[in-house]
Amino acid sequence: MVESPVTERYVTGRRKSMLALLALTLTGCGEEPSIIKPTAFHQADLRRGEYLTENFACQECHTVREKDGITLDRTLLFAGGVPFHGPDGSVVYTANVTLASQYPEQLIDATIRGRLAYKFAMPTHVFNRMASDDMRDMTAYLKTLRPVLRPLPDNYLPANLALRAPHSPVPVPEHAPAPGTLEHGEYLSRMCLCQDCHSPRDSTGAYAKDRLFAGGMRFQLEGDRYIVTPDLTQSPDTGLGRWSAPEIVRAIRTGIARNGRKLDEFMPYSTAFHSMSTQDIDDLVRYLRSLAPAKRVPSVGASSLMRLQDRASFRYRRTAGLPRTCRQGIRSGHR
Ligand code: HEC
Ligand code: HEC
Repeated sequence: MVESPVTERYVTGRRKSMLALLALTLTGCGEEPSIIKPTAFHQADLRRGEYLTENFACQECHTVREKDGITLDRTLLFAGGVPFHGPDGSVVYTANVTLASQYPEQLIDATIRGRLAYKFAMPTHVFNRMASDDMRDMTAYLKTLRPVLRPLPDNYLPANLALRAPHSPVPVPEHAPAPGTLEHGEYLSRMCLCQDCHSPRDSTGAYAKDRLFAGGMRFQLEGDRYIVTPDLTQSPDTGLGRWSAPEIVRAIRTGIARNGRKLDEFMPYSTAFHSMSTQDIDDLVRYLRSLAPAKRVPSVGASSLMRLQDRASFRYRRTAGLPRTCRQGIRSGHR
């Protein structure tokens, strides 16, 4: 796997608790010998790394917004502080990655893959399978971020909340699938979180396997407003079956739906996908157009803003920026 042997560098590292976890991860890793070589961090492409952090929605989650509630505040790029609310009043703020960027590459890599500790609200189960060369470019770019010293509000996790275990190492490809292939589109549909947001979950919280991309994930916005993700399969009725490829491209990059409606910014076109390269978006759209029509889609009138009585099935809710108290720096205690 990508982890290299523990070196002295970690031992002098600033986070002792992480050390213990790292040791555990590495032990676990040793049980399953991998044929994959360690990531060659020195050969990284920084511009590509930056591009990936935009299109894999890292910037989107880890950056507070300007006053309009939409545009990323680029003076605080990656400085964290976007709240995610969960069950029983729990709230977790996205981490300040400009500080985490000071960790050694291998530690950043294992953190993003969720192998050191469970990361609330961060889709580490997706990133755990990121190709080594994408991870290398991304990590190298993150390491160019200058630390932004800025307190974040405290997270709140109820004492009875069961902490999930970190992810085990999984096989990771050395390279992302070749551009121009269906596999490349499939890979992007996972890494750009399309699948994650647009797939319903079963009762265990895992993707409902027979309904991937069928939509129906609910997210709570401010107050009582919810948004439900639409079906992206080739169903002509509920999905993209009647959409042309250019219409899908336009929706992903600019948020204009087939009927001209402006999509809600919760679909991160302006914060993540607007810069997607022609090659990447063509591969992605070709993959979406290969998806068999979903048979069962949720009955809640896909892609509309609505008030839902049933709060059982939402994953997390988020608000666009920091609460006022935090902007003023009253509460402290960043992680
Ligand atoms: C859906 C929102 C979301 C996305 C997308 C996301 N993150 Fe996170 N990330 C979080 C949250 C929330 C935390 C804090 C988790 C916690 O405290 O348990 C976090 C934590 C982290 C940490 C740990 C920092 C530390 O000090 O331990 C790093 C590094 C990180 N994210 C990097 C990334 C990168 C790189 C990407 C893109 C590949 C990414 N994140 C995508 C929400 C997100
Ligand atoms: C953070 C969650 C999220 C992510 C990530 C996400 N979407 Fe969406 N998407 C949404 C929501 C919510 C809507 C509905 C917006 C609305 O109706 O106003 C939507 C709408 C769409 C639509 C319009 C469909 C229709 O019927 O109107 C398309 C196409 C789409 N998304 C494709 C994608 C693709 C491709 C990706 C990955 C590159 C992606 N989405 C990633 C949440 C997400």
